[in-house]
Amino acid sequence: MIAAPRILILGTGSMAASHAERFAGIAGCSLVAAVDVEPERARAFAGRYAIPTSFGDLGEAIAWGKFDAAVNVTPDGAHKATSLALIAAGKHVLCEKPLAVNHADAEEMAAAAEAAGVVNMVNFTYRNAAALQAARALVGAGEIGPIRHLQASYLQSWLTAKHWGDWRTDERWLWRLSSAHGSMGVLGDVGVHILDLATYAAGEPIVALGARMKVFDKAEGGVIGPYRLDVNDSVAVNVEFAGGALGVVHASRMATGKANELDLLLHGERGALRLWTDGQTSTLEACLGPDIEVQRWRPVEVAPPPVIAERFVAALQTGVNGEPDFRRGAEMQRLVDLVAASDAAGRWLSVD
Ligand SMILES: NC(=O)c1ccc[n+]([C@@H]2O[C@H](COP(=O)([O-])OP(=O)(O)OC[C@H]3O[C@@H](n4cnc5c(N)ncnc54)[C@H](O)[C@@H]3O)[C@@H](O)[C@H]2O)c1
Repeated sequence: MIAAPRILILGTGSMAASHAERFAGIAGCSLVAAVDVEPERARAFAGRYAIPTSFGDLGEAIAWGKFDAAVNVTPDGAHKATSLALIAAGKHVLCEKPLAVNHADAEEMAAAAEAAGVVNMVNFTYRNAAALQAARALVGAGEIGPIRHLQASYLQSWLTAKHWGDWRTDERWLWRLSSAHGSMGVLGDVGVHILDLATYAAGEPIVALGARMKVFDKAEGGVIGPYRLDVNDSVAVNVEFAGGALGVVHASRMATGKANELDLLLHGERGALRLWTDGQTSTLEACLGPDIEVQRWRPVEVAPPPVIAERFVAALQTGVNGEPDFRRGAEMQRLVDLVAASDAAGRWLSVD
């Protein structure tokens, strides 16, 4: 139990800013160091968020040692080596999603964190959405009955529009298009979020799936500088849930007209839920009871839950691990691998 956790931010690119802002707003913890392989970037970031120390190398930060926990905001391909180094040093870790770049690596990370007894959490951001927590509670209370059908989507359009900058010239986007730079495409980037959201809301795992992924031509020869643009831009997955429901889960970076939106429809035998979020806000509507005869949907009031930074600090302070943990991150990684395997095999595959 750590009364006043000292937190280090590892990787000071675009997502690190939102972590810094969140942790800075939580009483009882402090941001003590920033680390990036680009030392200037780490220094500038530390200056911007009044963080006293910065390093250009995680090894130096670990040798310095004056921190309790790290938020790992490095690119996907760097999560495993850096998290294992932190865990080996006895540090608690909140790691960005996807936990790793394959299921075996994610399992290794979960096992290492559990063996070391450190707090380990994965940033499936949409767990912060009030509508998701309310949907899970309604499903868990039996309000919609057994789920029979579902659809879930995570849609972005940064490959067809420039609202988040030009992906052709910005390395923040280019690494996300290249397997050699540790990306699993839209599947690993945001597909993992929608798989977590759908299965968390339903309270049931996916037991089988059949998937198709697409890489669209985006540059001459499929290459920009050192980046070979070889990972999926769109993915569509037919799924079967443990309770027998069938549905579709899909994600794209070419969903023109959608900047960043997640939708979920759950159809049960006695009711249905419709969830929407853009990461800033969320809404939930329900069709329940006599309303199922006239297909009337009513808004459901939802209360904001604690966000992941608050849950991480609480876990550090109480010594009780928070959710979602590395084990859940590894479960989602198993699904991500299965989606890719199903696409390659051209047929449905079952989760072991
Ligand atoms: N949860 C979410 O909603 C969400 C949203 C965006 C990004 N992410 C995840 O956050 C992570 C970072 O994404 P981003 O958009 O900030 O990327 P980014 O490219 O903007 O930033 C990554 C930073 O990490 C640094 N870095 C690379 N290797 C490192 C290492 N070994 N040690 C220290 N620093 C290292 C880079 O120099 C860069 O500054 C990714 O895993 C991404 O999938 C999650």
